[in-house]
Amino acid sequence: MKLFVSEGNPHCLKVLAALEVAGLQCDVQFVNHEEKPVPFLSRPCLPALLLPNGQHLFSPNAICRYMFEVSGQECSEACDQWLEWEATELQPDLLQALHLAVLQGKESEATQVLAGPLSYLDQSLTKGTSPFLTGDVLSLADLVVCAALHPILSAPSLASGEPKSVRVWFDRVAASQSCVSASHKVLQGKGLQAMKSFMQRQPAPQSGQCRGGTQPCNNGPAEDEEGERVVSQEEMEAAAVTWGKGLNASTAATKRLHPILPQEGKRNILLTSALPYVNNVPHLGNIIGCVLSADVFSRYGRLRGWNVLFVCGTDEYGTATENKAREEGLTPQQICDKYHAIHASIYQWFQIDFDFFGRTTTEKQTEIAQNIFWRLHKNGFLVEDTVEQLRCEKCQRFLADRFVEGTCPHCNYPDARGDQCDKCGRLINAVELKAPHCKVCGQTPVIRSSKHLFLDLPKLEPQLEQWLDKTTSSGDWTANAKQITRSWLRDGLKPRCITRDLRWGTPVPHPDFKEKVFYVWFDAPIGYVSITANYTDKWEQWWKNPNQVELYNFMAKDNVPFHSVVFPCSLLGAQDNYTLVNHLIATEYLNYEDTKFSKSRGVGVFGDMAKDTGIPSDVWRFYLLYVRPEGQDSAFSWADMALKNNSELLNNLGNFINRAAMFVSKFFDGCVPAMELLQEDKKLLALVGWELQQYIQLMDKVKIRDALKHILSISRHGNQYIQVNEPWKKIKGGDAEWQRAGTVTGVSINVACLLSVMLLPYMPAVSRTIRDQLNAPDSCVSAMLRGTGAFTRVLDAGHRIGTVSPLFQKLEVEQIEALKKRFGGQQPEDEPAKKKTPTQNAASPHSAATLPTPAMDVNAGADPEKARQLTQAVAEQGEKVRALKAQKAEKAAITAEVSKLLELKKQLTLAEGKSPEPTPVKGKKK
Ligand code: 2FM
Ligand code: ZN
Repeated sequence: MKLFVSEGNPHCLKVLAALEVAGLQCDVQFVNHEEKPVPFLSRPCLPALLLPNGQHLFSPNAICRYMFEVSGQECSEACDQWLEWEATELQPDLLQALHLAVLQGKESEATQVLAGPLSYLDQSLTKGTSPFLTGDVLSLADLVVCAALHPILSAPSLASGEPKSVRVWFDRVAASQSCVSASHKVLQGKGLQAMKSFMQRQPAPQSGQCRGGTQPCNNGPAEDEEGERVVSQEEMEAAAVTWGKGLNASTAATKRLHPILPQEGKRNILLTSALPYVNNVPHLGNIIGCVLSADVFSRYGRLRGWNVLFVCGTDEYGTATENKAREEGLTPQQICDKYHAIHASIYQWFQIDFDFFGRTTTEKQTEIAQNIFWRLHKNGFLVEDTVEQLRCEKCQRFLADRFVEGTCPHCNYPDARGDQCDKCGRLINAVELKAPHCKVCGQTPVIRSSKHLFLDLPKLEPQLEQWLDKTTSSGDWTANAKQITRSWLRDGLKPRCITRDLRWGTPVPHPDFKEKVFYVWFDAPIGYVSITANYTDKWEQWWKNPNQVELYNFMAKDNVPFHSVVFPCSLLGAQDNYTLVNHLIATEYLNYEDTKFSKSRGVGVFGDMAKDTGIPSDVWRFYLLYVRPEGQDSAFSWADMALKNNSELLNNLGNFINRAAMFVSKFFDGCVPAMELLQEDKKLLALVGWELQQYIQLMDKVKIRDALKHILSISRHGNQYIQVNEPWKKIKGGDAEWQRAGTVTGVSINVACLLSVMLLPYMPAVSRTIRDQLNAPDSCVSAMLRGTGAFTRVLDAGHRIGTVSPLFQKLEVEQIEALKKRFGGQQPEDEPAKKKTPTQNAASPHSAATLPTPAMDVNAGADPEKARQLTQAVAEQGEKVRALKAQKAEKAAITAEVSKLLELKKQLTLAEGKSPEPTPVKGKKK
């Protein structure tokens, strides 16, 4: 074995430490960053491990794992999950932090970037009693995570303010002989400076991008000791000026006229969501991962004034359909017709506003797929080979990948599918599976030979890499999408078979392969193109127009490699100027309560059942988007849904909008009163303006879940503003007081109008209802989110509003309990209470690769009624503090009241079912 490493390369730290712990014989060779110890790679790639069989490993974590396994040390599932977290969650932040610290000298910003992962680490360390990440002894997980953080946490200028548990754990692991010696070899005692030359060769990480969490991305206004934003005088004045400008007539709403085609000078956005398999009813996880996320973004894009075309449709070919047909005694075509209609009606209920919802079993599909096929053939990107295939003699057919399961040849996961392992994510050729069995009858299949065609991915790899470098750095790719793609390329591409011995598929037009059809994963993405072609004859204006069109693909993470590697290779090889994906947006998985969705076990809510719950479509959308698995897996929970409905929608958002509108109608005869802005009002305008900016920045980057939190912050500011200014009392006072009540009401009703616009992508029906109640002109919709976005007055004095009524209804405990029972996911009494553990999580094919979400058990003890009372108490106490400050009272007196306020806020957070934020470290936030 030979290990190639280089000085100053942080990835080499962990492999050297692992090597020492594993105690293996291995020739370690230091090379410089430019050297290419692996001759067949066009780029230097370090560390690299040359195995005794002549193959190489390039992924640092895979190298570490291999060393451990060879030395006979087990790597537990919990350990594997930490490695996965390190690679997908920690590394992107770390790269950004190192970039800031090493190359730009911005050390405090570097520390900020790492706050999220360090707090995650802290939560895991403080949850248990073990001194190490996976138990009582040091494991590979400790080595890998510690080595990754080593350059940062051992730099005196950077290591401050990290959670105590992290520091204690880090010092313990870093003091081990293996870490000390690895750090000595790689960093040579030069600390961060040793990494300069390495960092200069890394692509610059995207800055200013929020990853996960609810922290705003840029430095917002500073916070005072109560954790409230301090708004400067200039900000208030600027907000007042913007507000005063009112509606700009030039931003009148544009009507959508079909067919939508790219337009010169516009941002032309082609948006797709993964085509759902036709043979199944989608569950909530499918809905949030694909169509709902894409719908929110396309609605948002239209509000921004972009020229958006949103297409989707059912993915209809393949054995799964043939099987379903057999099951239901129908023909495959009848199955497709039946389920296509079911899908369409579910999406309609969820208000998914496709421009076109098509299907893959069309003539256009055959025409376009065959055209791409012939071009690939002509251009020399298809190769022939004889393949060994699994055939089930009992079922009398070749087994498509999805109908065979067995043990993964790479990681030994026992439930690997025939095409991909859900645990390690690697692609598999079904015949490589160990202990394969037919999923239909359970019999062991036999191997048969047959001639097939392959897409020559190795030949296309250089072009692919060049394109990927460009698109991933200029576009918005989610971290998991980049990581999954990188790991595919690291493992080296192999030719991929694109034909199948089946009947239900697009026919292969080549005379030598007459009996075959295209493999669904070659065929399905071409569905995006053919569906567009069924929408408009001018489809090429979208699909062969990469300079004018930006393509967004939405999907769940298991679809990533087909969209980032295989399909782009088909299109690159076709050499027909195809539009390739610019932004690849992949979600993690949504679990159902503490388990996964399962049609066969009847667990979970499936698309067609949601409407039978009596809960409005908008509330479903809101909650799914609130827990959107953005950055990590998340879970749907009935109790949490009720809580969010009652606390966020009813008590916060609905309460604010309803109060503002009721004041107009009760105190001012339904007409918006005149407004004279004071400091207090300007401050609110500035706060709202800032939240709006955050919302736009996050939405532009498709951080849909994070952006939603800023809408809720606005209504929270609004509630507090009303609470403090008490218009219901002032209306009874003298002229000045009466006018004050008017201003507060007028400003509030305008905030409500802004909220209706910001809500539109998430809750289209509620948004419409609010605007109807406010009798708001349609132009306000298009005005507020254009350009950089601005909070401006749209409902002027004298504007008459409509009829006001409550927007949301409380979800009662009994109702939720009944639903929970009906849809499964309840702990049967005789079963020991299941706690979500990393091991259990790994057993779920949908969540194998990620750690349990820390946010999952935070809702215990939530109490909406108490939350309502505490909101009031917080507002009152806040007012008291402000009054003391205004009177320039004694510092001690102020401090005492501030502590009371902070305590109340903490209780409120708990009553809302959230985890209290750690007390902010003063001066850390800039
Ligand atoms: O995973 C799935 O549901 C696939 N039907 C997605 C296909 S996406 C695209 F390629 F069509
Ligand atoms: Zn595997």
